[in-house]
Amino acid sequence: MEETKVRPMPRIGDKAPEFKAVTTQGNINFPADYKGSWVILFSHPADFTPVCTSEFMTFASMEKRFEEADCKLVGLSVDGLYSHIAWLRTIKEKIEYKGMKDVEVKFPLIEDITMEVAHLYGMLQPGESSTKAVRAVFFIDPKGIIRAIIYYPLSMGRNFEELYRALIAMKTADEFSIATPADWQPGDDVIVPTAGSCGVAKERMENKAEMTCYDWFFCTKKLNKDKVLKAVLKK
Ligand code: BEZ
Repeated sequence: MEETKVRPMPRIGDKAPEFKAVTTQGNINFPADYKGSWVILFSHPADFTPVCTSEFMTFASMEKRFEEADCKLVGLSVDGLYSHIAWLRTIKEKIEYKGMKDVEVKFPLIEDITMEVAHLYGMLQPGESSTKAVRAVFFIDPKGIIRAIIYYPLSMGRNFEELYRALIAMKTADEFSIATPADWQPGDDVIVPTAGSCGVAKERMENKAEMTCYDWFFCTKKLNKDKVLKAVLKK
């Protein structure tokens, strides 16, 4: 009997697994072609399905904002190239949804009928479906490192504003060496690294630093919205 190869799921901090693929925008060599930029690799269950259509129209409508944040988008499903082309043409020519119409999906959509890429990235989760990819989202940084992974089930459309927020938050954390609290948006206070010595903890609690401390281990500081946007958006 042939041995089944079980691949480990990619994890945060791993190098993004490499592959070559055919897409609606030509051939790609991933992640090499995207080196130097952020890239979001995301999967959807199937072409010509309603949740996926709403997602593609939303993501394509936001593509310019991701581009301004120096982030490329790459989609994938286990459908073939001609199905992808026909579906994207239908979206552009026929579908009007929530004020979006004439939507052109300009980012590449990978054909993956062999399911090779879907397996490589753990997008096929048999408890949910063994024939359709779940809604996976991989954020990959300019060095080709996976920085965040989010999975959603088949029935649930993604919140693309949250994906944008996550991208901006990660870029802000990198740029300013801070962390971002729950529900953070640019302009909100950010979290400074926890005090690493008793002296620093004391100083913070005595209010000598320009911070707000809720306790010695939990301090925030102001970070101006314009400063954030200037740092994380392309000039
Ligand atoms: C959809 O995109 O509508 C969908 C796809 C697969 C299963 C359920 C819903």
